[in-house]
This record gives sequence, C-alpha cells and structure tokens, in this order.
Amino acid sequence: MCRIHRNVAQNLSGSNAECGAFVQRIPCIYTAACGFSVPEPSGCADKPPYPMRDMTPNPTRSSQEQFNRQAAHYDQQWNHWNRESLDWMLSRLPEARGSSLDIATGTGFTALALAAHFDTVTAVDISTGMLAQARSRASAQDISNVTFIESAAESLPFEDETFDLVTCRIAAHHFENVQSFLSEAHRVLKPCGTFLMADTTVPDDDLAAADWQNRVEAVRDTSHVRNLPPSEWRSLVQAAGFTVDEVETTGGAIRAGLEDWLLKSGCEGDEADRVRHAFATAPAEVVLAFHIETAAGGAVEFSWMRVALRAHKPT
Ligand SMILES: C[S@@+](CC[C@H](N)C(=O)[O-])C[C@H]1O[C@@H](n2cnc3c(N)ncnc32)[C@H](O)[C@@H]1O
Repeated sequence: MCRIHRNVAQNLSGSNAECGAFVQRIPCIYTAACGFSVPEPSGCADKPPYPMRDMTPNPTRSSQEQFNRQAAHYDQQWNHWNRESLDWMLSRLPEARGSSLDIATGTGFTALALAAHFDTVTAVDISTGMLAQARSRASAQDISNVTFIESAAESLPFEDETFDLVTCRIAAHHFENVQSFLSEAHRVLKPCGTFLMADTTVPDDDLAAADWQNRVEAVRDTSHVRNLPPSEWRSLVQAAGFTVDEVETTGGAIRAGLEDWLLKSGCEGDEADRVRHAFATAPAEVVLAFHIETAAGGAVEFSWMRVALRAHKPT
C-alpha cells in the first residue's frame, strides 16, 4: 500500500471498522465508503496527491449555502481570528489608489478596510447573505465608496484592466477553479497593478499532512475545496501571467480550539465525530505539522498555516 493510501486507511476510516478493513484489503483504491469524495488515483506511485478532491460542487452544501447560513454571525465568530492577514495586505498597498477589487469579500472585512485608502472599492461575493451583512456594515460605518456585487470569483463581470489592486483573503480554498479565479484577477487588473492574496495553506514538504488537513477540512465544511501549498500558489499565480514579488507563510501563531472551530462552521453530529476521531488518531507528522495538543481536560488545540502572496501584472 502506498503511503497516501496507508495514511487514509490508518487515520480517517478508523471510526468505521468495516470501512477500515475494506481499505486495508484493497490497496491503492480510495473508497467512497469512507465518505470522502475523491477520485480514484491513476496509480500507486508516491507522486504529489494534487489534484485529489473531486471538484464537483457539493449539491448538499455549496459555498453559497454554507455562507448564507453563517452570514449573520460570521463577523463575531471569525474576523478576530483573521486580522493578521489583513494587516499584511494593508502594509503592501500599491501607490496607485484609484480603484480596487476585493474578491470573495464575505462580510466586507477587507473591502471596508480598503475604503479608507482607495477612491473606489468594488467587492464581490457569491453569497447573498454575506453581501447583505457587508452592505449593512458599510452603512453602519458611513462608508459610501464601496460597491457590493454578487459574482463568482471565476467569472468576473468587469472590463479588462479596470483595477489598481485586486485582493482575495481567506477564501480561495472554497473556489472550484483557482486557475479561472487567477486568470480573471489578472484580466481585470491594470498593467502594473497589484494582486494580494492570503489563505490557509498546507505544508509544501509533507504531502501526507497536507492531504490529512484537506480531508478533515472537507468533512468539517463541505464548501471547502482545497488548501494549496505555497509553492503551488506561486506557480499558479505565475502561470496566470503575474510576476510574484513575495510569498510568506506563517504557522503556529494562531491557535484554534477544535470544539470552537467545529461550532463556528456548524459542524455537528456524525461529521463532528469524524473530525474529532481524525484529530485523536492523527499520525505524529500531522501532530507536528499542525501543533496539535490535548490539554489535561481533553480540549484539543491546533494551528493551521497561512500563506500570503504579493504579485503584480507586468506591463
Ligand atoms: C471566509 S469568507 C471571506 C472573508 C473575507 N474575504 C474577509 O476578508 O473577511 C469566504 C467567502 O468566500 C465566498 N466564496 C466562496 N466561493 C466563492 C466563489 N467561487 N466566488 C466568490 N465568492 C466565493 C463565500 O461566500 C464567503 O463569503
């Protein structure tokens, strides 16, 4: 059994003994019986497991549904957790401050922060509920230079070369087609314009840990598509036509409590138990990679890594 399949069998099927035995008996075949939506790999070689997840939109809980559900309490629950990447972006704004675009704006946390620095900010998101929250936050703060538009990141309703800055923060792991998102970001950016992106990420040098994290995330939040490692971000951004200026990763700084994290995304019942089981049986390399610790009282804590990237569109 190759190490990726061994990892799946050892760590993610243990909550169901029959399923575990099935995986063990049939090396090199991922089985849907485990509840993970993945295609069968083409072979058993230790090649990078990307792309691994089925990119088909989840019919039961898409991003739209997930975020419409979360919209009302999103700010209160999440934004303090994510402030670091916003500060990173705000310290790297371009000199040209005419127009900016924030992709997958959510409740507008990044867009509203940009409003003080740009003549105009356009903010798009796929979720009506999140946009409604963003609009009411803008009006509560008397901000009038931000326009909110419902749109998918992969198909933007703007002319070529419209914006001086394009941002996208803590959202790309939900996108079904990252290449289309990058190509659209590039298209709507003016020559010399700046692209700033931040997201959760997985280690470049530990494929098993990366795979484990993406699978656990997909169980916790079915709108999760994939956290990409930093090197893949760099090459995809370059392939879209950008020049990459900076890629920074952070890890371990922001601690999350497992129960709090499950609660925030509305993960409960069997799905929550599967995630708890995956943490309880995580192999040593995963424990190390994500600083998983269990306190005396049983509370589990961990840290995801973050990637932040700055690029520009060449003339
Ligand atoms: C974690 S929130 C974003 C937070 C926000 N960018 C910020 O800085 O606070 C993720 C957002 O991505 C949006 N989203 C997911 N898939 C999308 C897509 N394909 N196109 C546009 N928005 C999308 C969701 O609706 C959600 O509002």
